[in-house]
Amino acid sequence: MQPILIVGNAVLDIVLNVDHYPSEDEEMRAASRRAALGGNAANTAQVLAGLGRSVDLLAILAPDGDAAELRRLLAAAGVDSRHLVTAAGGHTPVSYILLHAANGSRTIVHHRELDELRFEDFAALPLHDYGWVHFEGRNVATVARMIGHLREQGFAGAVSVELEKDRPGIDDLLPQADLVLCSRALAATRGHRDAASLLAALRDRAPQAALTCTWGEAGAWALGRDGALHHCPAHAPARVVDTIGAGDAFNAGMIAALAGGAELPAALSAATALAGRKVGQPGFAGLDRLDGISLPLP
Ligand code: FRU
Repeated sequence: MQPILIVGNAVLDIVLNVDHYPSEDEEMRAASRRAALGGNAANTAQVLAGLGRSVDLLAILAPDGDAAELRRLLAAAGVDSRHLVTAAGGHTPVSYILLHAANGSRTIVHHRELDELRFEDFAALPLHDYGWVHFEGRNVATVARMIGHLREQGFAGAVSVELEKDRPGIDDLLPQADLVLCSRALAATRGHRDAASLLAALRDRAPQAALTCTWGEAGAWALGRDGALHHCPAHAPARVVDTIGAGDAFNAGMIAALAGGAELPAALSAATALAGRKVGQPGFAGLDRLDGISLPLP
């Protein structure tokens, strides 16, 4: 099996477990804290590694101590970090996250003061070695160039794109992708009240792609290239304890399942179950199987 390349953000998540959501100007104590590997791309990469896939991460970090910590966390998660880029200055992105013990909600304050990945950082990689390339949908103009480059080079693998937040020009990432992974937040920003309506609206820009949209406790939807719409109800755990990166885990499940040859409905069901298991536990460790799918060895 060829390795998977994930392109996007690696972030140091400082997670504070709190027993209530603070009010403005309140002073309160966190019950506990952890420093964790975060960022959509890094989260998806670590879940893929947990599923036994060989995975490389292309992200940019600052020359600072937080970057050293992230490299350590990536190694511990089994993600290949040899292609990480170090910027000349700035700060490695950090998220301060309040994780509410009562319901697992996560409130994120993100700080970024760093250059973006450049097209050249991507073009320098041995791209034909990968069987799948996944992009976090940010740094949009550069990512559109990267995808165009893959296609011009006759890349034989699959290309997936995550559309989590609506950003200017983000629809330009649609026409050349094989799989487009959307969020409920994107749907809401665009005035859609359900996943099916977002997917129908995006279809004209990406008739060649399978499209998905997650919808929290309502589950997830997928629209196939053949126009068939599939729904999978959420696999709610007994207790929701940590929703950080649930969408990133879903994306990893979709990629692992489809890369392993699963059909779209089976991939949707396995990815939804994986995201359900994720929100029932802290962090990403131990998410090592896809229900109903036997993964080929990496
Ligand atoms: C979760 C996450 C966190 C990160 C934040 C970035 O999806 O990737 O790990 O800090 O979002 O916006």
